[in-house]
Amino acid sequence: MRHLTSIRELDRDAALAILDLADELAQVNAREVKKLPTLRGKTVVNLFYENSTRTRVSFEIAATRLSADVINISSEVSSVAKGESLKDTAQTLEALGAAAIVVRHPNSGAAKQLAEMGWVQSSIINAGDGSHEHPTQALLDAMTIRQLFSTTDLAGLSVVIVGDLSHSRVARSNILLLNKLGAEVLIAGPAELVPEEMTAMGAKRFEDLDEALASRPDVVMMLRVQKERMASEFASEREYAKNWQLDSRRLNALPESSRIMHPGPMNRGLEISAEAADDPRSAILRQVTNGVSVRMAVLHTLLAADS
Ligand code: CP
Repeated sequence: MRHLTSIRELDRDAALAILDLADELAQVNAREVKKLPTLRGKTVVNLFYENSTRTRVSFEIAATRLSADVINISSEVSSVAKGESLKDTAQTLEALGAAAIVVRHPNSGAAKQLAEMGWVQSSIINAGDGSHEHPTQALLDAMTIRQLFSTTDLAGLSVVIVGDLSHSRVARSNILLLNKLGAEVLIAGPAELVPEEMTAMGAKRFEDLDEALASRPDVVMMLRVQKERMASEFASEREYAKNWQLDSRRLNALPESSRIMHPGPMNRGLEISAEAADDPRSAILRQVTNGVSVRMAVLHTLLAADS
C-alpha cells in the first residue's frame, strides 16, 4: 500500500491492521520517551491548501514521533499563492526529498489525482479533499469507538451522524469505514443537507433528530455546519439549532451509555451546545488525542515497509 486517499482503498483487514497498530502506538505515546526510529532519514511534507488545527498538528507530531523530518507548507505562504499548480508543487516537494505528501485541498479528488496521475513517486495521504473524504479522521473515529466500547470491530454498535452531511468529507469516510467494521450507520439532517448518495452507501436516514436519538444509538456524531462551502447564505441558525442541535433537552434524553463525538472544529451553540460538548459522555478530545496514534500508524504502514 503506497497511498491513502480514500477509505475505499482499505478492506476490513487492512483497516483493522491500522487500528491495531494505532493501539500499539498509543502505548508508545503514553510513555515518557515517545519517539521511535522507524522513519529516520525520511521527510514528510504537510501541504495544506485549507486551514487546519487538528489534522496538520497531529500529522506533524506523528511524523516527528517516528523520527521523520517534517516540513509544513500552507498555500498562502508558498509559491501556490503565485499560481503554481498542484502537480508542479508536488513535483517540487518530491525533488526536495518528500517521501510522503500529506495534502489537504478544497477540491474533491485532489489527493487521488496526485496519487494516480503518476506525477510523483511520494506517498500521498489525503488530509481532507473538498467534500469527498477524510480517511484518517474516520480511522481515528473508529479507534475512539473501539476504545469506548472495548471492542475489536464495531459489530452490534449503532452510530448516528447528524447535521450538514452533504458538505462532510468526515461523514463520507465514516459511513464507508463504519459499514466495513460492522456498525449500523444512521444519518439525520435537514433535507437540503442530506445527499441521496448516503443512503445508497448504506446509511439509514431519519428525518427527525429526536426520532434518531430515540433509537438509543451508541454514538452520536455531530457534524460542523460548513457555511463556507454553502453556495447560498445559511438560512437560519436559530431554526437549525432548534431542529438539529444536540442541546440540553436532547442530551438529557440520551442514554447514559451513549457517547458524543464531533470531528471539530465545533460551532458551539449551533450544531452542539456547550453543555453537550463538555458532557462526561463527550469523547471529542479523546478523538483529537487518537489522531496522533492513527496518523503514526498510517505513516508507518505507508513508509516503513521500504525502510
Ligand atoms: N477534524 C479536522 O479535520 O479538524 P481540522 O480542520 O482542525 O484539521
